[in-house]
Amino acid sequence: MQAEPQAFDRVLSSMCTDPHPDARDAAERFLATNPGDPATYQRVADLEDEAVALLGEVAGLADPAGYVASGGTEANVQAVRIARERADSPRPNVVVSEAAHFSFQKAADVLEVELRLVPTDGDHCADLEAVRASVDSDTALVVGVAGTTEYGRVDPIPELGEIADSVGALLHVDAAWGGFVLPFTDYEWGFDHAPVDTMAIDPHKMGRAAVPAGGLLARSESLLDELAVDTPYLESTAQATLTGTRSGAGVASAVAAMRTLWPAGYREQYLRSQRNAEWLADALEKRGYEVVDPTLPLVAASVPRPTFEALRAEGWRISRTATGELRVVCMPHVTREMLASFVADLDRLEVRASVPVVGDD
Ligand SMILES: Cc1ncc(COP(=O)(O)O)c(C=O)c1O
Repeated sequence: MQAEPQAFDRVLSSMCTDPHPDARDAAERFLATNPGDPATYQRVADLEDEAVALLGEVAGLADPAGYVASGGTEANVQAVRIARERADSPRPNVVVSEAAHFSFQKAADVLEVELRLVPTDGDHCADLEAVRASVDSDTALVVGVAGTTEYGRVDPIPELGEIADSVGALLHVDAAWGGFVLPFTDYEWGFDHAPVDTMAIDPHKMGRAAVPAGGLLARSESLLDELAVDTPYLESTAQATLTGTRSGAGVASAVAAMRTLWPAGYREQYLRSQRNAEWLADALEKRGYEVVDPTLPLVAASVPRPTFEALRAEGWRISRTATGELRVVCMPHVTREMLASFVADLDRLEVRASVPVVGDD
């Protein structure tokens, strides 16, 4: 029997989603292409140039450098690598809040840089005083997260830029998840808001491209050049990516999704996801759970572990934060009907007689 992938109708934990139909078609057409060899696979190489230009538009950068990476992990690792190469220190360090994605741990391991994890403030954002106290003349990179993995928080990027500047470090923004929703908010997160040097921004998350389609952007070609190695047996002369052979499916599907959805489609998608997150937060609050305010479309709430386990047993794909809260990511495939059905299961599995439930509308 042919294996089938899981349906998305109970997936509330993923930062990936059902690709847009145009992205799906493009991925299929470009499945057997390799943008890692641009002199042979020229059409997908041209598409990659378009992908980078479109990502630049989303992130507020005219004339960007960059490439379509395998995901946010690769983009973050490469940003740390650029900073390490630029650093004028034998013991470079990277300063990042403890809310940052674990890919920075991998970057520090493979690149042998010191990772300085600083605490968050009361609202799960990087604590600026702690960042100021952690940087020094060996700091190669300050990282701000624009849409954290657990709470969807946006670090104060312009202020982090000032701190980076004060010690001659680069500034990297991890907008792997947030990049396709933040253009429609008032947050200051992009290249046009702060002296951002590099950014992770993933089409395969909120951008609705097929996996693998991450994005690494750099303010200038010279930053990307820090990654380049010579490629003797290829007709192209240098390669900046971490992987060699790469899937052209991700590149083509990223372009297709962005051509179709940027900007109006993404705006509409953000508004729907945000309304869904607020609806769910409200429904959980009315049931007496402690809820972290969803400032982006991601809800965290203190649902007890037995209830969490019962919901998973019911087929709901949900996850928990490091401190144990239920975490629901309102991705584009997450509809109001799905959330209503989830809340109905929650009510059935944990009846809390002492808490009055007011109508959900
Ligand atoms: C903020 C952030 N950065 C980086 C990543 C890593 O991305 P990937 O899993 O595509 O490598 C994630 C994954 O969820 C993320 O949320």
